[in-house]
Amino acid sequence: MRVTVVGSGFVGASTAMRVAQKGLADEVVMVDIIEDLPQGLALDMRESAPIEGFEPNVRGTNDYADTAGSDLVVITAGLPRQPGMSRMDLLEKRGDHPGRGGEGGWPLSERHPDRGHQSPR
Ligand SMILES: NC(=O)c1ccc[n+]([C@@H]2O[C@H](COP(=O)([O-])OP(=O)(O)OC[C@H]3O[C@@H](n4cnc5c(N)ncnc54)[C@H](O)[C@@H]3O)[C@@H](O)[C@H]2O)c1
Repeated sequence: MRVTVVGSGFVGASTAMRVAQKGLADEVVMVDIIEDLPQGLALDMRESAPIEGFEPNVRGTNDYADTAGSDLVVITAGLPRQPGMSRMDLLEKRGDHPGRGGEGGWPLSERHPDRGHQSPR
């Protein structure tokens, strides 16, 4: 089973780590738009694997093509609330984010590489 975690921030990195540590997937793919961020986090996780006793099956990428064939996609990409920003402001901004389906948003199922569409950069 391949699990993709979209967004490698606080929530995404914790999710990927938990899935790997609990052995819930054969492979965990972390994807983010920030270059080298998911790769570095995945490397850290792999290096902890022998100590923590789980399979080092976490991979980081900036390319949505690497998520092809995923059995489960967990979307954690998003914008945290900024100082002075109301929850309604945040809701409007999130319309442009993966899986939110708001104006300008893109349902992941329609943009998944398996379905022959472009990645949502
Ligand atoms: N941290 C919390 O305690 C908490 C609690 C409740 C809800 N949330 C919500 O969960 C979401 C994630 O929170 P976080 O704390 O991990 O935020 P974060 O800013 O640490 O991480 C979000 C990550 O998503 C990435 N991202 C943005 N657009 C992307 C895209 N199109 N494709 C791939 N990656 C993309 C960003 O580069 C960033 O690394 C936010 O919407 C936040 O409001 C967070």
